[in-house]
Amino acid sequence: MTQIFAHRGYSSAYPENTMSAFVAAEKAGADGIELDVQLTKDGEVVVIHDEKVDRTTTGIGFVKDLLYKELRQLNTNKKGGRKEPIPALKEVLEWMTSNQLICNIEFKNNRFPYDGMEEKVIHLVRNFHLDNRIIFSSFNHYSIVHSYCLAPEIETAPLLLEGIYMPWVYCQSIRAKGLHPKHTTISDRIIQKTMENGIAVRPYTVNQEKDMHRLFNIKCTSIITDDPVKAIKIRNQYKKRP
Ligand code: G3P
Ligand code: CA
Repeated sequence: MTQIFAHRGYSSAYPENTMSAFVAAEKAGADGIELDVQLTKDGEVVVIHDEKVDRTTTGIGFVKDLLYKELRQLNTNKKGGRKEPIPALKEVLEWMTSNQLICNIEFKNNRFPYDGMEEKVIHLVRNFHLDNRIIFSSFNHYSIVHSYCLAPEIETAPLLLEGIYMPWVYCQSIRAKGLHPKHTTISDRIIQKTMENGIAVRPYTVNQEKDMHRLFNIKCTSIITDDPVKAIKIRNQYKKRP
């Protein structure tokens, strides 16, 4: 059965990359969550998509220029109501020890390299004994190869914006056990061939019903979606099929 990953948590209903969004994804019955990590000025691994805090919080400026204690003052709940800070990765991983979710950690280091971020993330993952429930992904493929060299027991998956020729050969060449393609750039045939070659395929970001049907129909390994509730409802239609 195709697994459902909640992209930045249940981000169609909650502020993205927040504890509320992750907890709601788990309550909804998602198999996993996806989140993005960057480093603060003083080296804390924090969960946020953009290099700047402007779009998703009440603050302004680059994550890399803010101290962790400064960043924690910001509110991700821009609509008002309950104040919710940007989570530290350690907070999310600690919460993961109380559930069975899989967590796809995306290294957001294609603009700023954040030297040492992979080491810090691996240290946290190992401390919480979550090695077998984590997938590292990135658009920066040097970063996932680096993380594989540091921690070969943790699955890696390159993110792809465009289709490439025989992606399973590329994945095997960098020891990646997964492939995370933009869903519009990969055909059913290539998904199937990649899976036949032992590589898990998790297309992103799959929000339309017709795209969910396409991927559930071919038993794609997983989908990454902003709306796990919609995805679960649609996947239930496939449970009765052989
Ligand atoms: O993991 C897939 C997806 O999260 C990659 O794109 O920009 O949403 O981080 P983005
Ligand atoms: Ca992401």
